[in-house]
Amino acid sequence: MKRILVTGGAGFLGSHLCDRLIEKGVRVICADNLFTGTKRNIEHLLNHPHFEFLQHDITLPLYIDVDSIYNLACPASPVHYQHDPVKTIKTNLYGAINMLDMAKQFKARILQSSTSEVYGDPTEHPQTEKYWGNVNPIGPRSCYDEGKRCAETLFFDYYRQYQLEIKVARIFNTYGPRMLPNDGRVVSNFIVQALKGENITIYGDGQQTRSFCYVDDLIDGLIQFMDSPADITGPINIGNPNEFTILELAEKILSLVGGKSTLTFHSLPVDDPQQRKPDITLAKTKLVWEPRVRLDDGLEETISYFKKILF
Ligand SMILES: NC(=O)c1ccc[n+]([C@@H]2O[C@H](COP(=O)([O-])OP(=O)(O)OC[C@H]3O[C@@H](n4cnc5c(N)ncnc54)[C@H](O)[C@@H]3O)[C@@H](O)[C@H]2O)c1
Repeated sequence: MKRILVTGGAGFLGSHLCDRLIEKGVRVICADNLFTGTKRNIEHLLNHPHFEFLQHDITLPLYIDVDSIYNLACPASPVHYQHDPVKTIKTNLYGAINMLDMAKQFKARILQSSTSEVYGDPTEHPQTEKYWGNVNPIGPRSCYDEGKRCAETLFFDYYRQYQLEIKVARIFNTYGPRMLPNDGRVVSNFIVQALKGENITIYGDGQQTRSFCYVDDLIDGLIQFMDSPADITGPINIGNPNEFTILELAEKILSLVGGKSTLTFHSLPVDDPQQRKPDITLAKTKLVWEPRVRLDDGLEETISYFKKILF
């Protein structure tokens, strides 16, 4: 039976990935320090004979004999990654080195969850994998953006130097059940505010755009990428190219939730990107993957999750 390590497996994406891998009939080891993840996300797996939870911080070395590693451990929302920026960089760099060393030791295939943040505030639209990005190296978001960029460098250095089987996925905004209600990400923020009848906080004029991928689609993309031929290293964008302004998203959520919330406008955070939209030609051709879930359907699922945990 295959053994697969998921770092960050108690988090939002990681816990969905663990679910899916268990369904596929493999052994899953979930390593997480529970910084932004929670045991509640994997509660239903804890007694499963093929599932093991390991409380571990990936800034420390780990050696487990596995066939493949999904490296997802890293806080993903600005509130959390800016809480302790030095720790965020350590998670990205020491964490990548530790996981790559483990992959090297056991000849395991390893997938890195990189991010659209490597493109920064992009001057090309939509973003293809060939675009090198427009990133501030010294701002408050840099611990995450530059940490992820350097982790990509490490993956490609291990690939060239030690012939490791690597996969680098650049994940774009993803949403769905098990996001934290208070982490400041736009979809969860708007839904929670709308459900509580609070004002919806829009940063800037709301004309900045994002594209939102539902978690099930994203997990399909990651698994298809991991299982793809060895010469497909990426980086490959995984995300939904349907683009919406933040204002459109707020209005959609308001109409789905109902209630009396009103929109309030606040100043933009530093280095907030104006536009975000993946070019997913590579994912479509190399992985035969594209997102299928419509925004309205994904939002309905997410809203009912938040209704359950909030009330
Ligand atoms: N969700 C998105 O929209 C998105 C977009 C781009 C990239 N990503 C990447 O996907 C991955 C998962 O993101 P998510 O949205 O599930 O975030 P999340 O915060 O829910 O999950 C991250 C998990 O990593 C764990 N973790 C953090 N630091 C750790 C450490 N040092 N050692 C061990 N575990 C640690 C946390 O406890 C948490 O369970 C992250 O690497 C993130 O950068 C996510």
